[in-house]
Amino acid sequence: MDATFVVFQLVMASIVHGALLIRGPNQNIMEGDSVTLECLYSDNAFNISRVRFESFSELLKMWRPVWPTSWCFYDLNVEQVDDKMVLHVPHVAHFAEGFFRCVSDDHTLSAPNNASKTLSFKVHYLGEVHLSREGFSNFIGLPQELRVQRGDDVVLKCSASSSEEPDYCWYKEGDDWILPSSVITLKKVSDMDSGVYTCTVEHPTALLEKMRNISLVVLPGLRNVSCRDLCWKATR
Ligand SMILES: *[C@@H]1O[C@H](CO)[C@@H](O)[C@H](O)[C@H]1NC(C)=O
Ligand SMILES: *[C@@H]1O[C@H](CO)[C@@H](O)[C@H](O)[C@H]1NC(C)=O
Ligand SMILES: *[C@@H]1O[C@H](CO)[C@@H](O)[C@H](O)[C@H]1NC(C)=O
Ligand SMILES: *[C@@H]1O[C@H](CO)[C@@H](O)[C@H](O)[C@H]1NC(C)=O
Repeated sequence: MDATFVVFQLVMASIVHGALLIRGPNQNIMEGDSVTLECLYSDNAFNISRVRFESFSELLKMWRPVWPTSWCFYDLNVEQVDDKMVLHVPHVAHFAEGFFRCVSDDHTLSAPNNASKTLSFKVHYLGEVHLSREGFSNFIGLPQELRVQRGDDVVLKCSASSSEEPDYCWYKEGDDWILPSSVITLKKVSDMDSGVYTCTVEHPTALLEKMRNISLVVLPGLRNVSCRDLCWKATR
């Protein structure tokens, strides 16, 4: 008998004999997307109502049953639809990503009838854009309008939480340069540096982009007035 034919027969045998299968998204998904996973038998040899979903807990390093949940706008439901067990999440959250499998609680069954293969999916996200100024508290973030003295050095940093390191760039409204960096450094600012600066953040794989701008106002500072000038003015 031909060797390829034997392999083909074995594959067919393992699929046909009531194997427990899991189906789900086979691509990257975005936070907020709807996600559906299904457990089913390759034929109707066994009782699907005895099958449940499990997810792998990274914390406990073990498989845990998935229970229907509904809290804080997060819903997850599990129901039997005909000969399938269906897990549905209308708006998936980042924390839902991971490893899933289907398991039968019928202990008389053995592999591959008692458990499916493992399915994994990743949930991509891009958080809000946060701007901060170097040397200043970055906890509160920056106001919409930043006032600085003429002659100051201004270093602005742009950041966003993301499922993958995003691409950053800065540009200034009305100017034709684009700075491909999360940090923009303006040395000894003058009136010419006043204006609206925008940072855009782009997720590398998902089609996600967010931006934030800040209006820089350069005040006529006293930096180039020497101390002696001031003392001299004060004593007059
Ligand atoms: C499948 O199992 C459920 C409960 O485990 C039982 O109520 C149901 O009758 C079973 N169905 C069949 C076709 O055996
Ligand atoms: C399925 O059965 C096999 C024995 O064939 C056993 O080793 C395995 O632990 C079982 N899987 C689950 C998830 O119960
Ligand atoms: C800057 O951002 C604000 C609010 O996010 C928006 O209303 C405004 O149009 C933006 N300005 C420019 C010049 O992009
Ligand atoms: C300070 O510098 C500005 C230009 O940056 C200049 O116009 C102004 O005359 C200077 N003032 C003094 C007191 O030197």
